[in-house]
Order: sequence, then C-alpha cells, then structure tokens
Amino acid sequence: MMSESNQSATLNAIKGERYFICRCGLSAKMPLCDGKHKGSGIRPLCFEAKENSLLSVEEILKSSD
Ligand code: FES
Repeated sequence: MMSESNQSATLNAIKGERYFICRCGLSAKMPLCDGKHKGSGIRPLCFEAKENSLLSVEEILKSSD
C-alpha cells in the first residue's frame, strides 16, 4: 500500500545517508517511515543516497524494483 501523497513527495537526500521510505501509507512523517507499519506485513524501503540530491519518492521506489 502506498499513498498518492507519498509517491509525489520529495526527499532531500544527503550522500551516504540511509533513509527508510514508507510504503504502507500510515506514517505521520511522510515520506519517511515512523514505525506505524508494524503489524501490517508491509516494510519500509531502505535507501542509501549515492549523492546529495533532491529525489522524488517515486524515482526511489522505481529504482528499487
Ligand atoms: S510507517 Fe509506513 S512503512 Fe513504516
């Protein structure tokens, strides 16, 4: 499950940092996971930034396929 608002969100990524992207749509800290997925069977996507850049969450999710 993923909310439309999360897919259109952006992430100001910093090189070398790891981010946990919400895929359940329940986080109050979109686009990042805040742990509300627990018990849903859905897990966040772990993403490590290769460079400093402003990325769309949709791009990050597509690159993980
Ligand atoms: S809160 Fe949505 S994946 Fe963790």
